[in-house]
Amino acid sequence: MKNIKIATILLFAVAAIIPVISMRVTALTKSTAKADAVESADKAPNNTVPQDPGKFVGSDRCAECHTNQAAHFALTAHRKMSSGGFSAEMVGCEACHGGARDHLGYYAAAQKLIADGKDAEAQALYADQAKADAAKMLSFDGLSAAASTAICLKCHESSQGRSEERFNFRRSEHFRHGVACIDCHSSHSPKRTEFLLKESQPEGCYKCHQDQKASFARPFHHKVPEGGMKCSDCHNQHGGFPEQAAENLCRGESPCLKCHTDKAGPFAYEHAPIKVEGCQACHTPHGSNNPRLLKRNEIRFLCLECHSNTPGIPVEDTGVGPGAPSFHDINGRHRSCLTCHVTIHGSNSHPAFFR
Ligand code: HEC
Ligand code: HEC
Ligand code: HEC
Ligand code: HEC
Ligand code: HEC
Ligand code: HEC
Ligand code: HEC
Ligand code: HEC
Ligand code: HEC
Ligand code: HEC
Repeated sequence: MKNIKIATILLFAVAAIIPVISMRVTALTKSTAKADAVESADKAPNNTVPQDPGKFVGSDRCAECHTNQAAHFALTAHRKMSSGGFSAEMVGCEACHGGARDHLGYYAAAQKLIADGKDAEAQALYADQAKADAAKMLSFDGLSAAASTAICLKCHESSQGRSEERFNFRRSEHFRHGVACIDCHSSHSPKRTEFLLKESQPEGCYKCHQDQKASFARPFHHKVPEGGMKCSDCHNQHGGFPEQAAENLCRGESPCLKCHTDKAGPFAYEHAPIKVEGCQACHTPHGSNNPRLLKRNEIRFLCLECHSNTPGIPVEDTGVGPGAPSFHDINGRHRSCLTCHVTIHGSNSHPAFFR
């Protein structure tokens, strides 16, 4: 517990000095407002964790005044955090919003004054800025990405709850560019209760990834727009571990092999780029004008990117593979490379992939 506290304090100190906000996130109006609010909001009353343990009084009474949040909360997976052996600051509403002692005291007192007909005194209490400030709960409104994420990570570091997949959010491209958990998730008003998502995929991702929306609009694509597949089938939006190519948030060693198990061998004769650069050496998995999702519309030109030293052929990148032998008439008889080099992903019987 003590370690968590120290870590959280450190995180806040760092967060205050370097607000890491990416260009792209800043482009979103909502996040721009957030970015502006970072400096002030993190210093707002009670927007700091950890707090005095004496302030944690339990969530039993929140429903009296926050009916909607409490009713919805009871339906989400987060209801499970309230059960079993956690220390006070990890339970119920207060796990995210901080200790409620002063909040309850203040609003209960005001309510009682009104009930007793003492409206003027109630107004005076409401007008007392110092007391009102002291009564404020931690609000996620205007909290920096790093600060709000730190609250979620109290519980969601390394393990992700439902799945076996591990969680490395602090090393993800998302975190490093100022994207917070609550850019994608909402605790109280998610569009879908399952996973507490603000938006389903792919729309939630398109909000920030317009280029990818354009790629998936190409004639041939994985069925993401149609709902047959999700971005998260290939990507780990939460960040993986270094050995899993965390830098592009791809799932596993190659996200492709989960479904296309036959393509990576092992083969007696491997086609080198598959092992070296991965499937994206030849494929654009998001979308393509080629039915096989190839980078080039005409296969010949894809091969010649790496295999030609013949003058007169457009070559982007020579010297990667051996040149096509000189007997190849690449504009004539040999133009359809795959009629002879059939097993292009690798072969167990022929070094030039004939069968
Ligand atoms: C007696 C009524 C009452 C109870 C009980 C109550 N609240 Fe509130 N709470 C309010 C009111 C009124 C506001 C709105 C303040 C505003 O809009 O400026 C508020 C605001 C909040 C906010 C927004 C931040 C802020 O302080 O303005 C949070 C978060 C919150 N409450 C959480 C809780 C939680 C968690 C509990 C239970 C531990 C709880 N409240 C119990 C009346 C109550
Ligand atoms: C998992 C963390 C978490 C828990 C637990 C949680 N909240 Fe929240 N709460 C949030 C976040 C994040 C927001 C910002 C809006 C959103 O994401 O839906 C929020 C917003 C609110 C607001 C709106 C006021 C504001 O601007 O902050 C109130 C009121 C509130 N919560 C009350 C509650 C009550 C009552 C409970 C318990 C029944 C509760 N919350 C439990 C994370 C949490
Ligand atoms: C006090 C611990 C705690 C905190 C803090 C916390 N969570 Fe959770 N979270 C849980 C538990 C427990 C579950 C349920 C896991 C399960 O289903 O086994 C959960 C589940 C989830 C789920 C999965 C919902 C589902 O339908 O499977 C999401 C998404 C989530 N949390 C997001 C967040 C976000 C975002 C925050 C910060 C605003 C946060 N959590 C803060 C404990 C926590
Ligand atoms: C870029 C958007 C995005 C961000 C940022 C994000 N998530 Fe998620 N999260 C998702 C999506 C999408 C899913 C649902 C995945 C699916 O449908 O398989 C999900 C699922 C989850 C789940 C349930 C998955 C499971 O298997 O248990 C948890 C828990 C969760 N997120 C917590 C968090 C926490 C905590 C953070 C911040 C540290 C966070 N998420 C940041 C998009 C995001
Ligand atoms: C079939 C698997 C697959 C699916 C589905 C998929 N991606 Fe990708 N994505 C990849 C691979 C592989 C790369 C790496 C491409 C490279 O390095 O050339 C990538 C790269 C990216 C990049 C980095 C920039 C770029 O375009 O190269 C972003 C951002 C991205 N994907 C977002 C998304 C979003 C958003 C969705 C859902 C709308 C999605 N991806 C669906 C496999 C997939
Ligand atoms: C709030 C904005 C936001 C949302 C929502 C969002 N992203 Fe991102 N994403 C970013 C930013 C910013 C980066 C880092 C800079 C970049 O590559 O554009 C990034 C990077 C990525 C990358 C890595 C690209 C690389 O260059 O390595 C992938 C993959 C990705 N996002 C997938 C997703 C998926 C899948 C979703 C939906 C579940 C999603 N993103 C939702 C903002 C967002
Ligand atoms: C979740 C399973 C899944 C993953 C992961 C996946 N694919 Fe696919 N892929 C499919 C399905 C299903 C089809 C065929 C139906 C369609 O058009 O969506 C397909 C079609 C293709 C095709 C076109 C084949 C054809 O002629 O119909 C290529 C090429 C391809 N995938 C490459 C990749 C690459 C490269 C990756 C990794 C970046 C990848 N796939 C990841 C499921 C997957
Ligand atoms: C050297 C270039 C290259 C690399 C690297 C490559 N492919 Fe292909 N792939 C092709 C070509 C060319 C075709 C078209 C074959 C055809 O039309 O018969 C193809 C077709 C496919 C198809 C559809 C036809 C079929 O055979 O099922 C799938 C699926 C596929 N590739 C998946 C993958 C996956 C997964 C990887 C990574 C493990 C990968 N490819 C790496 C060149 C490549
Ligand atoms: C991204 C670069 C790249 C692309 C694209 C590519 N290759 Fe290769 N290819 C290589 C490399 C590297 C080798 C391995 C050379 C070695 O082992 O010396 C290779 C090996 C070969 C070999 C075996 C050569 C031998 O050693 O006998 C053949 C045949 C071949 N490729 C045909 C093709 C065809 C046909 C295409 C188009 C469908 C293609 N390649 C696309 C890079 C590429
Ligand atoms: C009519 C059949 C045929 C077609 C079509 C064909 N090739 Fe070949 N290719 C061969 C033969 C035969 C060899 C020699 C195989 C050997 O050495 O065992 C060869 C060898 C190669 C090699 C290996 C060179 C080396 O040094 O090991 C490459 C690279 C190659 N071809 C690329 C291509 C490309 C690129 C195309 C399309 C533009 C293509 N081939 C079309 C028959 C063909």
